[in-house]
Amino acid sequence: MDIERIPLQKHGDSRGMLIALEQDRNVPFEIRRVYYLFATKGGVHRGMHAHRNLNQLAVTVRGSVTFLLDDGSGPHEVVLDDPSQGLLLRRMVWREMYDFSDDCVLMVLADQFYDPADYITDYDLFLREVAGAGHSGDRAACLGR
Ligand code: TYD
Repeated sequence: MDIERIPLQKHGDSRGMLIALEQDRNVPFEIRRVYYLFATKGGVHRGMHAHRNLNQLAVTVRGSVTFLLDDGSGPHEVVLDDPSQGLLLRRMVWREMYDFSDDCVLMVLADQFYDPADYITDYDLFLREVAGAGHSGDRAACLGR
């Protein structure tokens, strides 16, 4: 699968750094929701689901975390440890997060409001749905690119 990292422009000066996230500019969707994970306990695995209709952009504002991403073609590990790199999490991609550093603050921007009904939490069901629906084309259309 394509691992889609989005470089985020750093505005640095003698005072420090600033990064801006803007809808349809460096964030390739309408931003309806922002949430962040922090104080994650050691050894914890989070995620372990896919979304039928949700695109997200993940940024480690601080620290590091490892993602496992799978669009049905097999697992890919991605380490996210740079606040100037976004990781695009498209719909119908299975994701797991682990190896959170103690200081990790993982911010996620999303194009839909929170909807528990949108989750697929059974990996075998995910594989059946992603195989059956030909989602790769839909994913591209969903983001308008
Ligand atoms: P959960 O989806 O289990 O997190 P993850 O998949 O990253 O491990 O969410 C944890 C809790 O937070 C759960 O009670 C649902 C709630 N929640 C919201 O209320 N709004 C949100 O936008 C999200 C992502 C979760």
